[in-house]
Amino acid sequence: EKGTYPYYMLKEIDEQPAVMRKILQHYQGEQQQLEIDSAITETMLASDRIYIVACGTSYHAGWVGKQLLESLTHIPTEVHLSSEFGYNTPLLTENPFFIFLTQSGETADSRQVLVKVNELNHPTLTITNVAGSTLSREAQFTLLLHAGPEIAVASTKAYTAQIAVLAVLADVVGKAKGLAQNFDLVHELALVATGMETIIDEKERLEQLATEYLSVSRNAFYIGRGMDYYVAMEAALKLKEISYVQTEGFAAGELKHGTIALIEEGTPVMAIITEESIAGHTRGNVQEVKSRGAHSMIIAMEDVAEEEDQFILPQVHSLLTPLISVIPTQLLSYYTSLHRGNDVDKPRNLAKSVTVE
Ligand code: M6R
Repeated sequence: EKGTYPYYMLKEIDEQPAVMRKILQHYQGEQQQLEIDSAITETMLASDRIYIVACGTSYHAGWVGKQLLESLTHIPTEVHLSSEFGYNTPLLTENPFFIFLTQSGETADSRQVLVKVNELNHPTLTITNVAGSTLSREAQFTLLLHAGPEIAVASTKAYTAQIAVLAVLADVVGKAKGLAQNFDLVHELALVATGMETIIDEKERLEQLATEYLSVSRNAFYIGRGMDYYVAMEAALKLKEISYVQTEGFAAGELKHGTIALIEEGTPVMAIITEESIAGHTRGNVQEVKSRGAHSMIIAMEDVAEEEDQFILPQVHSLLTPLISVIPTQLLSYYTSLHRGNDVDKPRNLAKSVTVE
């Protein structure tokens, strides 16, 4: 039930801090330490490469998952679009481990890959929000998102839940491998939940930014590097699917290799900056588009923020920044769609779960 909320999407955005806490609860053992089925851990430790397969928003969560898995487990990880995998199958290593990311557990493009992988007898794990869904039943292992039903077509809380569960998985497997970790994920995810609340409390500011930047423009860009690039791709998908503003998520450094030709007077360019090592470069890219007339907005994390930035994000651990930086982009999409008079929860031409290939 959406209760007093005008749209499910807004309710689901608001639920994200609670979802983070719920995930911690579900994956904590008696001694408060994070736990998952040991058969999953052992199988992953025996694998030489992880292949993440997904579509849409889940695919974007997969890129963050790659970063988490490689950092915490040191197992090389590839991310693939389900709809490409079947026809353009990558070279597989001797002991691959497959992770299917799917909110609904019913996406046909992802299922066709699972069917093929099962024929090859490789181990499979589905990370899904829906217990008993097709991809959950047909994979060897399942981890649940515990995000509660997601009704709006635009996926929000499933994205952050997928990243949090992937972080738990990477943390548990990394520890089982004996890799030293310099952070306490339980504590860091609790900080993320509080950070999310701070942003959600700033809805009015984000509504104002949506009006100022996105109310009339026909196109827009999100830019970033590293983790911020992954979030830029997700932010662009979210904006285009519900507001119908043509939006691209771009690796900031790649703009000057062609796409900068599209920048005109007033083109909105939103830059996401969460990390020290890339901040200077991305700020340089903002200057480049600004001098070509772009209407630039900087969304920056506390430690790397400057006073004139349009939106400041609460500081969290560098592996978890997408959980925070995606929130203002979800709200910018929501308000842009709302102001343009669209049906936020049911954008044209789209269905919640895509059961055809
Ligand atoms: O249920 P799934 O996670 O497999 O769905 C994948 C995509 O269809 C889905 O994420 C889609 O891109 C969303 N509408 C994006 O908001």
